Amino acid sequence: MFLPPVSTRSRAMDRSNAQWIFPLPVTAFRPRRRGFNRMLGAGLAACILGGLARPARAQGVHLDVPYVPTPHEVVEAMLELAGVQPGERVTDLGCGDGRMVVTAASQFGAHGLGVDIDPERIREARANAAEAGVADKVEFRVGDLFEVDLRDTDVLAIYLLEEINLRLRPVILAQMRPGARVVSHAFSMGPWRPDREELILGRRVFLWTVPAQAGGRWRARHNGREFTLTLEQDYQILGGSAAFGPRSAEVRDGRVSGSEVAFTLEVVPGSPELLRGRIDGERIVALDGGAVWSAERLAR
Ligand SMILES: C[S@@+](CC[C@H](N)C(=O)[O-])C[C@H]1O[C@@H](n2cnc3c(N)ncnc32)[C@H](O)[C@@H]1O
Repeated sequence: MFLPPVSTRSRAMDRSNAQWIFPLPVTAFRPRRRGFNRMLGAGLAACILGGLARPARAQGVHLDVPYVPTPHEVVEAMLELAGVQPGERVTDLGCGDGRMVVTAASQFGAHGLGVDIDPERIREARANAAEAGVADKVEFRVGDLFEVDLRDTDVLAIYLLEEINLRLRPVILAQMRPGARVVSHAFSMGPWRPDREELILGRRVFLWTVPAQAGGRWRARHNGREFTLTLEQDYQILGGSAAFGPRSAEVRDGRVSGSEVAFTLEVVPGSPELLRGRIDGERIVALDGGAVWSAERLAR
């Protein structure tokens, strides 16, 4: 169902698919036990054990994650799940042979950036981009994934380890715009629960939409009433309360999705109402078709 056209696969890509089936050469991988065990847990045991049995190939390159390519069918499904649009920028941190970024460019009309610490992977990625005819739409760099600026990235596609995801999480939340997406093969983000989780050809794939920062105190107005809204945010989940003079009401069923917020509040006692809005800098404006309300940020 997800078979990519032959033209998007290069010989180098096919070689690494063969590595998926047969024992993998792993480049100077020094596993830390916790991450290693999780990788095993994700069903990669045979490949990685096979790889570890071989001597390192590129001396001096320390890998935080071993090289294990995502199968092409899963690459396509990940990019579909993330809803990659023409012109969007897709970034793969630890890009391997570049298949994620090359496929995003050749099949989704995106442009992109792939970064890998192993120069051999970057040579393969550049060759694959040239072979697929998308060299002008993609950039591949040798570098450390922790030093990449993600501010321009619309979709971050990754296949790392959970401990690496956890180290990246604050960078993602600080740098990526609300509404940008993160799609990860096999590994989650701990307490940042995914918005979607799919099983694709036996592989777990997670999707998150970067939430706006809604937490803090807001001065809100609704039908001539003014009140203080205190929102407590736990990634995409919102709670908190509203103070109407001496009376307070609980914020219930709150969600942040990209720059949109939605929650239920009893502005009028006994009449729960759904308030939906879009965070625009330091203001919240009501979404069309719903309750008319607004808010201005007082404090984060
Ligand atoms: C599991 S592979 C994923 C390859 C590719 N993203 C894919 O899905 O097919 C992880 C990649 O991360 C690279 N890598 C490991 N540590 C890195 C680091 N600190 N900075 C950049 N890349 C790194 C490895 O060389 C390897 O190519």
